[in-house]
Amino acid sequence: MIEGLYLHIPFCQRRCFYCDFNTYEGLEKSIPEYHQALLEDMRLSAPEAAGGGLKSVFFGGGTPSLLPADLVAGLVGRARGIFGFEPGVEITLEANPGTVTPEKFRDLLRAGVNRLSMGFQAAQDRHLESLGRVHGAADSLQAWEWARRAGFENLSLDLMFGLPGQTLEEWEESLKWALDLDPPHLSFYGLTIEKGTRYHQWWQSGRLQLPEEGLQADMYESGIRILKEHGLEQYEISNFARPGFRSRHNQLYWRNLPTLGIGAGAWSFLEGRRFSRVKDPREYALRVREGGIPVEESERLEPKKARGEAAYLGLRMLDGIDLLEWKDRQGVEWEEEFGEQTKNLTKRGLLEVQGGKIRLTPRALPLANEVFCEFV
Ligand SMILES: C[S@@+](CC[C@H](N)C(=O)[O-])C[C@H]1O[C@@H](n2cnc3c(N)ncnc32)[C@H](O)[C@@H]1O
Ligand code: SF4
Repeated sequence: MIEGLYLHIPFCQRRCFYCDFNTYEGLEKSIPEYHQALLEDMRLSAPEAAGGGLKSVFFGGGTPSLLPADLVAGLVGRARGIFGFEPGVEITLEANPGTVTPEKFRDLLRAGVNRLSMGFQAAQDRHLESLGRVHGAADSLQAWEWARRAGFENLSLDLMFGLPGQTLEEWEESLKWALDLDPPHLSFYGLTIEKGTRYHQWWQSGRLQLPEEGLQADMYESGIRILKEHGLEQYEISNFARPGFRSRHNQLYWRNLPTLGIGAGAWSFLEGRRFSRVKDPREYALRVREGGIPVEESERLEPKKARGEAAYLGLRMLDGIDLLEWKDRQGVEWEEEFGEQTKNLTKRGLLEVQGGKIRLTPRALPLANEVFCEFV
């Protein structure tokens, strides 16, 4: 029985230079057969996953906004038919500002999508160009305006910091530029250089000048401060929202609740097993057509490992982990298993226990990975 459904859309107009997601350029002609495979995959997954009704559906990518809206409507309809929707289900679609029109947004809303997450990344065209984005800053503002006019209220945007040659002033300018739109939800991420990307090649050959670690940390901290001043509450390491606009889908992941991921390379977590589907979209579609769920990797988590994962995922949320709920779900007292780590990290000022909850301290936020290592 799953609470969330993720659908992976592995198509992009052009691959951004920093991106290592499972996505492909020039494959758009495979969209119809891929769409058929997604429909069929949901049917094949029903015996294992259907039951309680979905709290969330998430079209992620890649660039889901490249999917024609009637295909999105077909997928939403199939998901409703097979898994059922809870009242108020959140249906999110990631949109790239370079791939949308006013009609597209109107049609997506009619297809059942009620939340959009847009990749803005930066306010300066020179940075967007050097990231390899297919849009300029004006396109981002235009897309936002179209989405609002189409009737979308639950909107989010993504920004990135720590870009090559980016100054603190430019980062703050990007934040203020985005905040002028009064977004109910915003995510920001420090650039990571991923193996296999052009950025990785350029970085290794010395062509890419990245901001020093100290500047990256200053950017993260100034981001938190500026968003707070604008009434956006930080509820996760990289996520900020006005009351009532937290991403339900991501909260399912951080709470380690059962989710099904369909599509090429998508991960699922179901009955203590974590598994992924094959990464190549054409092979994925072919294998589904042949009648099987094309699983690539699968791991049954030992209870101890599963609790370690639940711990560091839960600590990503600033509300922290409710210790009574933990005992109920995990069957083991937090103290009994993680007492030692908790004592050390509390002494270092990185964790705090308050009101029956354990959480990261503000000081720990830029060092969160150090904390999480203690639970792996
Ligand atoms: C799956 S992508 C999303 C959406 C859509 N494909 C787009 O780019 O507009 C989610 C977000 O992750 C962030 N991201 C992707 N690769 C990253 C990297 N290497 N380092 C930091 N952030 C990254 C970007 O902010 C991006 O918008
Ligand atoms: S549009 Fe998004 S998924 Fe596609 S290459 Fe760029 S960052 Fe990656």
